[in-house]
Amino acid sequence: MSGNAVAVGDIQIQNISRIFNVARGGKKKEQFTALEDFSLDVSEGEFVTIVGSSGCGKSTLLDLVAGLSFPNTGSILIGGEKIVGPSLDRGFVMQGYALFPWRTVKKNVEFGLEIQKIDKKDRARIADEYIEMVGLSDFSDRYPHELSGGMRQRVAIVRALAYNPKILLMDEPFAAVDAQTRETLQEELLRIWQKTRKTIVFITHSIEEAVFLAQRVAVMTSSPGKVKEIIAVDIPYPRKLGVIKQSPDFQWISNKVWKSLHNIKEDEQREPIGENHLESEIDSEVVL
Ligand SMILES: Nc1ncnc2c1ncn2[C@@H]1O[C@H](COP(=O)(O)OP(=O)(O)O)[C@@H](O)[C@H]1O
Ligand SMILES: [Mg+2]
Repeated sequence: MSGNAVAVGDIQIQNISRIFNVARGGKKKEQFTALEDFSLDVSEGEFVTIVGSSGCGKSTLLDLVAGLSFPNTGSILIGGEKIVGPSLDRGFVMQGYALFPWRTVKKNVEFGLEIQKIDKKDRARIADEYIEMVGLSDFSDRYPHELSGGMRQRVAIVRALAYNPKILLMDEPFAAVDAQTRETLQEELLRIWQKTRKTIVFITHSIEEAVFLAQRVAVMTSSPGKVKEIIAVDIPYPRKLGVIKQSPDFQWISNKVWKSLHNIKEDEQREPIGENHLESEIDSEVVL
């Protein structure tokens, strides 16, 4: 964000915490702090990925930004305004596909437009455009169960884009598709982002995916989750995975993210590890 001006697509997450009441062996409920003192600013049009180990609070965070739940302390501002609930200014693409099984591809994409009370003709036109954007025109009248995983995920993305939200929130959207489809979807998403310039907050536990997509990668600590480090990815777009993967910049940044995540363990064990050891052990596809 430049100066004091706040743009409509800006996200300001300010010192939030999220505490759950959890049952322990049938006894009285205990409090569990999933997020603590979590802060992150994302500027309009920016692509930020958040990477962290399983259970560190990534989905909890995205639910809060979506307005599906509320922080116990701190606040989240969208375009300078405090979130009061879900809104069509934020599109949400969840883990899994979460399409309406009783609606065709086209009717799924039209869903947000119906809520916006856009008339039937315009709805159909907009849906067609987006479906074409991801190469699914021939599948418009199919139902989700008649599609492959990759196709369903494309539908989920354009369903969120069709009602033109300023912000796209994505929670491990490609985790369930095969590796090759995942690479195609990543490149497609970058193409769509470059075309539409949405603000994107994308959650993943793959370092490779985080670095390939983002302008900045926020690394999370776990229990309680907070931002440990923000790492800039100074690699120009358009990016092609096959090319980028080989580049020293990509490898260096991935290594930096990996080290940042790995240090969580080092800190706990209080055993510093030498540089060379870390360099040689980098595995960007490691499941955290
Ligand atoms: N509704 C809930 N009630 C109690 N605990 C929860 C709830 N939602 C999430 N948690 C806990 O909060 C932590 C973070 O969960 P989550 O945000 O789903 O992690 P991630 O998406 O990073 O894997 C986990 O320990 C999880 O068990
Ligand atoms: Mg999750």
